[in-house]
This record gives sequence, C-alpha cells and structure tokens, in this order.
Amino acid sequence: MSVIRVHDKSFDTYLSEETILKRVKEIAATISKDYEGRRPLFIAVLNGSFMFASDLFKQLTIEAELCFIKLASYKGMKSSGNVVTSIGLEDDLFGKDVIIVEDIVDTGKTLHNFLPKLIHQQPRSLRIAALLHKSEATEFPLELHYIGFDIPNKFVVGYGLDYDGLGRNLKEIYQLT
Ligand code: IMP
Repeated sequence: MSVIRVHDKSFDTYLSEETILKRVKEIAATISKDYEGRRPLFIAVLNGSFMFASDLFKQLTIEAELCFIKLASYKGMKSSGNVVTSIGLEDDLFGKDVIIVEDIVDTGKTLHNFLPKLIHQQPRSLRIAALLHKSEATEFPLELHYIGFDIPNKFVVGYGLDYDGLGRNLKEIYQLT
C-alpha cells in the first residue's frame, strides 16, 4: 500500500488500476447484454466521470452513443435549495435509452436534482451507472442499476476524482487516511 499527498492531505491506495479495470469490464459486459439490439446514449457527467466513461465505452460490444454534460448547482430563489442546470445536454432524448455515467454517488443530491430534467424529455428508458457509491452517505435514495464499488463514507481521489482540483490523473483510487 502506498501513501500519497494531495494538497494538505494524505491518501492510501484503495483500489488498484487492475481492480478498477476488471470491474469496469464486467459492467460493460452486463450493459452490452442488457442493451443488445438497442443503441443506448451514455450521458457522462463531467468532470469526474471522464476516465470511467472512456474505459467503460471502450469495452462495450454494442453500438452506443456518448455525450458529456456538466452540471452546475446554484442557489434557487425559492427555499428548495440547490437547483442543477446542465451544459451540453442534447435537447431530444425522446424515445432514447439513456444511461447516465457518474464517477461517484455520495448523498445522491446531484442526480436527484438532475433526473427530473431528463425524465421531462421522455426517454424510453433511464438507468444510472456509477463507478462508486457511498451507500452509507445516502440522503436522496436513487435506483442505481450499475455500481462498480460500494465504498465507505470516506473521501477518495484518483481515476477522474479530484480533491480541490488535483488527483484526477491518478490511475488508482486513493482513500483519505
Ligand atoms: P452527491 O450529490 O452528494 O451524490 O455528490 C456527487 C458529487 O460529489 C460527485 O459527482 C463528486 O463530484 C463529488 N464527490 C462526492 N464524494 C466525493 C469523493 O469522495 N471524492 C471526490 N469527489 C466526491
């Protein structure tokens, strides 16, 4: 196990590159089977999911489309809290089989706020693929169809995930010591 520093914090190796890629391959195989004969549209949520989306997409054995979106939260004018807007979302998801690709689902708030925007466009189906899930941290329950790893409620970096902008380039996933 190796310890690394990112900014002011220390992290231990948690998931090796080999472990991650093996699991991503398994998820790709399951999705390829589930969506055989269809042509799903993968909507990957930036920034964190770029590496997962890339490795997952490479391993698919079916035809599929991919787009990237960015979610931005802002304080709503009403008391409803953060509202999520999206940049880069296709306008026409009607009748499409959509799979959202997320790096990590923590409280679930981000996707909980964003899903109604997608559902409003009446896709034929909508599923979520999350590489990591901190199930202990759930505040907004979501149905996650494809999960890479259920992890403890500890901060992680690497494989696309950052701590204050750094650590995304790491091939492995590291956990706060
Ligand atoms: P949620 O809205 O609480 O589910 O949080 C989702 C977002 O928070 C993710 O897409 C990440 O950008 C960020 N996040 C949550 N936990 C971590 C972590 O352990 N490391 C890095 N980013 C995280």
